[in-house]
Amino acid sequence: MAFTTIAGTGGYLPERVMHNREFESLVNTSDEWIRERTGIKRRHVAADDETTSDMALAAANRAIEAAAINVEDIDLIIVATTTPDKVFPSTACILQRHLGIHNIPAFDVHAACSGFMYGLDIADRFIRTGGASCILFVGAESYSRIIDWNDRSTCVLFGDGAGAVILTAGDEPGILSTHIYADGQYEELLHVPAGVSSGFDLLKSQAAFIQMKGNEIFKKAVSTLGAIAREALAANNLDKHDIDWLVPHQANLRIIRAAAKKLDLPLEKTIITVDEHANTSSASIPLALDVAVRDGRIKRGNLLLLEAFGAGLTWGSALVRY
Ligand code: COA
Repeated sequence: MAFTTIAGTGGYLPERVMHNREFESLVNTSDEWIRERTGIKRRHVAADDETTSDMALAAANRAIEAAAINVEDIDLIIVATTTPDKVFPSTACILQRHLGIHNIPAFDVHAACSGFMYGLDIADRFIRTGGASCILFVGAESYSRIIDWNDRSTCVLFGDGAGAVILTAGDEPGILSTHIYADGQYEELLHVPAGVSSGFDLLKSQAAFIQMKGNEIFKKAVSTLGAIAREALAANNLDKHDIDWLVPHQANLRIIRAAAKKLDLPLEKTIITVDEHANTSSASIPLALDVAVRDGRIKRGNLLLLEAFGAGLTWGSALVRY
């Protein structure tokens, strides 16, 4: 049986950088409040004509280059996104067209901020069972399109971007294990009420934007991430002190600090991009991974714990030997 290896990473952030101070003229907030409660200093915002698939393409090309593969080697495309270009076809199919490859499967995974963990779980199963041997997996989001720019409790939290990995079949792990969960009873803690089969007529109203009970999400995230990290370690007979790097979903620095503390990991062993990127949902983990691989912190052979929590509610973790 094959194992899944991360052969290369890539990231893309839109050119436009929006600093906290810019929100001071939009809503009743301050740079100090945002930094203190979230750790966010700035975020990137997609241009009006820049789509999720455009960002996915830029990140994908960088990952393809880093993995030193040819586009023709790719035999499956997965895109994790909650902000697709269109209702259909999937953003993965649009990305496939941009890449100029044909006759391979391509589909989207929709698990909000846990999208990268869900997609990684699926990709790993494809590789281990021989269904694919070279997967392009991208997390890409344009949350700026679904933010209510008049709601101070949500508009300051999110950013746009894309992160990609090339996953190949190898003789050694690789991905040691993945663990994904959901509990739909918490649907309304974090959601966009307007959709297609429900609320289509509300797409031009407030219901088309993110609504969140931030405080409740915060508490659930901290307790759940602790439990799922323990589960991943136990599944591999590993100890928390074996972890070289924690690569968490980047929602809030306070959540990340709490997760690191539970693992006895100093913040220096935690990859943090939330200050620069804010919460880019499905894109946040692959973007953080790419930053730390490219700046040399994450090295081959390191043990990584990836973990995420998001709308659904959904959550997940993975232990990866990079
Ligand atoms: N600027 C200034 N004040 C703000 C504000 C902002 N941008 N956003 C909210 N506030 C206010 C609230 O209105 C509230 O005012 P009140 O006491 O007069 O009602 C006060 O700050 C405290 O709000 P609270 O929600 O208790 O703050 P908090 O410390 O929990 O921080 C979040 C709010 C949203 C930053 C925090 O709850 C959080 O990060 N939650 C997780 C959200 C998340 O990550 N979601 C995505 C999951 S993937």
